[in-house]
Amino acid sequence: MNQTNITILAIESSCDDTSVAVINNGKVLSNLVAGQQVHEHYGGVVPELASRAHQQNILPLVDVALKKAGISPAQLSAVAFTAGPGLIGSLMVGCSFAKGLALSLNIPLITVHHMQAHILAHFIDDPKPEFPFLCLTVSGGHTQLVKLTNYFEHEVIGKTIDDAAGEAFDKAAKILGLPYPGGPLIDQYAKGGNPLAYDFPISNMPNLDYSFSGLKTSFLYFIQKQIALNPNFINENLNDICASIQHAIIKQLMKKLILAAKQTTIKQVALAGGVSANSALRLALENEGKKRGWKTFIPDFQYCTDNAGMIAMAAHYKYLAGDFATQETAPFAR
Ligand code: KG4
Ligand code: ZN
Repeated sequence: MNQTNITILAIESSCDDTSVAVINNGKVLSNLVAGQQVHEHYGGVVPELASRAHQQNILPLVDVALKKAGISPAQLSAVAFTAGPGLIGSLMVGCSFAKGLALSLNIPLITVHHMQAHILAHFIDDPKPEFPFLCLTVSGGHTQLVKLTNYFEHEVIGKTIDDAAGEAFDKAAKILGLPYPGGPLIDQYAKGGNPLAYDFPISNMPNLDYSFSGLKTSFLYFIQKQIALNPNFINENLNDICASIQHAIIKQLMKKLILAAKQTTIKQVALAGGVSANSALRLALENEGKKRGWKTFIPDFQYCTDNAGMIAMAAHYKYLAGDFATQETAPFAR
């Protein structure tokens, strides 16, 4: 293998974003994401529609990603793809495409774990964290506190026992009649609201675990009760409602992150995953970091939500480690 000039094409198709990136020697040259608006209408991701949209998007995205990077297929050293976790039909599209491309170019295949890649997104730009560091990984499907001792040793020291933080944002938005995914909209509306206007309960899970399902239920009952008193309650108070539910989610996230930092005595603390695009969560980490003497790390917005840049970064380290998959064993999911 050529260890001096490593160029990898990476594909991400685990959920409802098709993304393709090209990386050269650890530097992301292109990172394109095609979102799928079709799900907005249904209030959540429809798996069958997601895999069909991936099929439509993938070839043009690969084409443009290569052109934008100034790389020809013959210059590629390997093809990487997200092997899981994710929607099986969506993963299959990326997997099949990657296998076909690697086979036709006679180059290695690399499988990447989606949640590991969210964290390894921290190694795309400077400043990069040093090991060991703690990462609060918050997405639409996962909420995990992870301790990293090297690129591939990711110990999950806390996690949600029910809903993920992104799900809590999206379900609250749905209750408010906002389109899917509602997380970014709650973030926007919250900017003009008072986070202390309404008080929502914070779960009291043991250890470093999270629970968001009780919060969702109490939010639903609260809104139903207020609407019974005033049918215009949501419209008249949208900013305050969004700021308050966001505050409750972030308070819970930060509480366990602070505890994890205390227990592990680690002072390098990072955020990753789609919810790390949330402006109030980013600010909460920065403020807490200043108060507690942490060095904090938050990825650039384009590397927070699902993207192939992070898959490419993880694949780069796997290439260096000689960790390749074969055409026969490369899984759809693991
Ligand atoms: O990592 P991601 O793109 O996909 C998964 O792997 O799940 O995360 C998507 C989640 C969605 O729940 C979305 O609402 C949430 O991230 N999200 C946000 C924001 N941007 C994305 N939640 C709150 N505030 C945001 N600005
Ligand atoms: Zn993700």
